[in-house]
Amino acid sequence: MAVKAYDLTGRTAFVTGAASGIGRACALLLAQAGATVHAADRDARGLEETATLAKDVRTHHLDVTDRAQLHAAIASCERLDVLAAVAGIMHSSTVLETRDEDLDRVWDVNFKGVLYACQEAAGRMIGQGSGGSIVTMASGAVDTGGAGLLCYGVTKAAVVQLTKTLATEAGPHGIRVNAVAPGWIRTPMTDRPDATAQARTEASMARLAPLKRVGEAEDIAHAVLYLASDASAFMTGQILRPNGGVAMPW
Ligand code: NAI
Repeated sequence: MAVKAYDLTGRTAFVTGAASGIGRACALLLAQAGATVHAADRDARGLEETATLAKDVRTHHLDVTDRAQLHAAIASCERLDVLAAVAGIMHSSTVLETRDEDLDRVWDVNFKGVLYACQEAAGRMIGQGSGGSIVTMASGAVDTGGAGLLCYGVTKAAVVQLTKTLATEAGPHGIRVNAVAPGWIRTPMTDRPDATAQARTEASMARLAPLKRVGEAEDIAHAVLYLASDASAFMTGQILRPNGGVAMPW
């Protein structure tokens, strides 16, 4: 029996980062839940692959750091009920090694890209007058920190702040804004150079989690579906942590 609170029939969702990993899994699951899905990414080939995996997925080839492109894509949607702002990049360097250009590049994608999508989506939802749900993608790094994660962690902490601020401002319009902070998830972002390194890294990450495994993109997509749907109707300004139970291991 399908649970009605998770049913997105008649709703339209816009998903960034939808050409790969977590964003693709979100696009596919939201479509499976009945939504019309607009999948956006800078990777045209990956986007096309996503579109072949589900019906009712439309694609937008864009860069989230370009506000005008995001504006045009969201304006072209028939309506907007859900935003999943998933696109992001990883960068690893110690505090002492971090250069201005590293910080600027990660900030532009991971923070400004999410900010622009939130601004465009919230504006559209307020105009429609029928509420909506915005889901941002933070990271367990906001709780734990971690060697080499300065640029990445700073941008994800900023995403959490954006989420809480927008939740406060958009709540009176019936718009909910929540963040997902995943643990270690097996996607192209966490690919290691070879199978041995991959197995070693995954084993050490799994060891830290009470559930003794790393996550899959689908684990995160289910959290996003919950936050996108009426199942979470009384949740806003929250951080959901699908991470296998990792608390603060470092
Ligand atoms: P991924 O590398 O598989 O997917 C990221 C997607 O974002 C790619 O399709 C890429 O083309 C797109 N993208 C990057 N920059 C873009 C830009 N400027 N414009 C448009 N699209 C752009 O990575 P994954 O793992 O699926 O990550 C998705 C999100 O989840 C990211 O925000 C990441 O920081 C976050 N996350 C991932 C974790 C993991 O362990 N994989 C853990 C915690 C958070």
